[in-house]
Amino acid sequence: MLIFVALSFLFVITSSQGPPDPSNDAAVARYVIHNSDWASMATISTLNATLNYPFVSVKSMADGPSSNGTGVPYFYITPREVSGQDIQRDNRVTIMATLAQSDYCAQQSLDPQSPRCPRAIISGRLVEIPQNASDYQFARDSLFSRHPGMDSWPAALRFYVAKLNIEQVLVWAQVGRMRNVPLSDYFNPPA
Ligand SMILES: *[C@@H]1O[C@H](CO)[C@@H](O)[C@H](O)[C@H]1NC(C)=O
Ligand SMILES: *[C@@H]1O[C@H](CO)[C@@H](O)[C@H](O)[C@H]1NC(C)=O
Ligand SMILES: *[C@@H]1O[C@H](CO)[C@@H](O)[C@H](O)[C@H]1NC(C)=O
Repeated sequence: MLIFVALSFLFVITSSQGPPDPSNDAAVARYVIHNSDWASMATISTLNATLNYPFVSVKSMADGPSSNGTGVPYFYITPREVSGQDIQRDNRVTIMATLAQSDYCAQQSLDPQSPRCPRAIISGRLVEIPQNASDYQFARDSLFSRHPGMDSWPAALRFYVAKLNIEQVLVWAQVGRMRNVPLSDYFNPPA
């Protein structure tokens, strides 16, 4: 019991703290992804006027429930919308999340473009999670617990649960230090 209380207390302290040490690239990337409710998602445009140009959209995101980030970004995507159509043709995407989306950078007097305003830039392929896959329910529950409104998104738009199969993680939290984060570190950040 005492241990549980102590652990809970520790959790409250930890979770109310700001981002990790900026030199811990993997921990910063995980913190930014877990604590961002949405990401900018770049796709390769299928619109005639901007064919093959970069396109960017806002995507609500969760990498687990609030209490448990896994590092895997999950999304709820409709093929009926512009970026959804891009993904149908070519599922290579890059997402970006930054603590400028929260109060953090403003409170630290950091401009969003400051290299010290932490951000993570993740590239890979966006894939649908089939309903019979082992991670489907976890992904869906993660999204719906953090985005209750998804429950009422129109069924006619045929939203599906998707995840980003990560190929590259970049993080920027220090001056002159855009860093590649090895995937083994990203999924198992050093303390
Ligand atoms: C886009 O371009 C293709 C090929 O030129 C054409 O067939 C199609 O109708 C165009 N779509 C729109 C929405 O303009
Ligand atoms: C967090 O989620 C992962 C992935 O589903 C699961 O294996 C793990 O048991 C969960 N941890 C906690 C503390 O809930
Ligand atoms: C899920 O269903 C599809 C289509 O019925 C099937 O091909 C696939 O093997 C199933 N996957 C699992 C993990 O059961």
